[in-house]
Amino acid sequence: MADVVTAPRGLRVAIMTDAVGWHTRELQRALRERGASGRCVDLAECRIDTTQAWHGLVLPGFGAELPDAALVRGIAGGSFEQVTKRLGVLHALAALGVPVYNEARAIERSVDKSMTSLLLHAAGIPTPPTWATESLALAQRLVTRESAAGRALVLKPLFGSQGKGLLKLGCVDGVHVPLPVEPGLGGADAALYGGLAYLQRYVEPLAAPGHDWRVLVVGGRAVAAMRRVSTHWVHNVARGARCVPQSLASGDGPAIARLAVDSAAALEMDYAGVDLMPTRAGPLVLEVNGVAAWQGLQRVAPVDVARALVDDLLDRKCAGLAGRRQA
Ligand SMILES: Nc1ncnc2c1ncn2[C@@H]1O[C@H](COP(=O)(O)OP(=O)(O)O)[C@@H](O)[C@H]1O
Ligand SMILES: [Mg+2]
Repeated sequence: MADVVTAPRGLRVAIMTDAVGWHTRELQRALRERGASGRCVDLAECRIDTTQAWHGLVLPGFGAELPDAALVRGIAGGSFEQVTKRLGVLHALAALGVPVYNEARAIERSVDKSMTSLLLHAAGIPTPPTWATESLALAQRLVTRESAAGRALVLKPLFGSQGKGLLKLGCVDGVHVPLPVEPGLGGADAALYGGLAYLQRYVEPLAAPGHDWRVLVVGGRAVAAMRRVSTHWVHNVARGARCVPQSLASGDGPAIARLAVDSAAALEMDYAGVDLMPTRAGPLVLEVNGVAAWQGLQRVAPVDVARALVDDLLDRKCAGLAGRRQA
């Protein structure tokens, strides 16, 4: 049998987060159980200082050292410049040989919902028809056309999360709802999110109350799933959806597991929270999250999610560090 290469004990992991709480405590606990340690680092507080160390990065709490690995749990919103620097720190860590989980490019692919849709589509993964355009006229024509065909669309902020800012347009309960245009602005300054219309065809619920699924993929394996049930069409836990256990082995489990794993692979993600909706023709993938929360999922899933993440980070991404450290 081949030698099993495991991560050495004593690894120092930077948990990149703007919010210390349940998730970071869970990760620190799971890291401790593996003989490693986790220190919370806010990417907003990381800086570049080429006078401080050979590598030019300063991470609070790490002095002139680099962490052995970085686990990305949250990146706060900010100006274009601030977010560029925060992602730049993750890019720099990877370039300096530090495993970053998920890496910056994977986070960029999933944070931009239009890129997610494009990559899912190009990989042949079933996802609702989706459009992203800067042209208000084109977006309006699209809403009119879909509405005339009796269909609804969802307008989403490109960088949205937790079900915030979603609007149903087009043919909604038989009534035409146009694209919102802020009164007084008009024309090209219409109230598209950031001047961009990201529109996805609305998937009608199969039952009332409706549900969607969240599947968590870790290291190419679906490790946990739940149904999110609510009377409101937006099924995020943050919007009050009820978490219901979903087996991955029976019923719809194997189909959603396969799609979720393929979605994570299409976006090259170490771990991913994949949202899917049921349709009569089979599940559709709505969205892929690169910094997924799992507090709701943990309540109904029979696996230790933090432990699954930490095991995958250490065993798959940090195993090579063993040789380096022991050399
Ligand atoms: N095209 C759609 N059809 C039906 N429901 C949708 C659609 N898009 C989003 N939803 C509902 O809204 C929720 C949030 O949308 P999502 O794209 O996952 O954005 P967020 O990043 O805010 O979670 C989904 O979990 C689903 O319940
Ligand atoms: Mg979502």
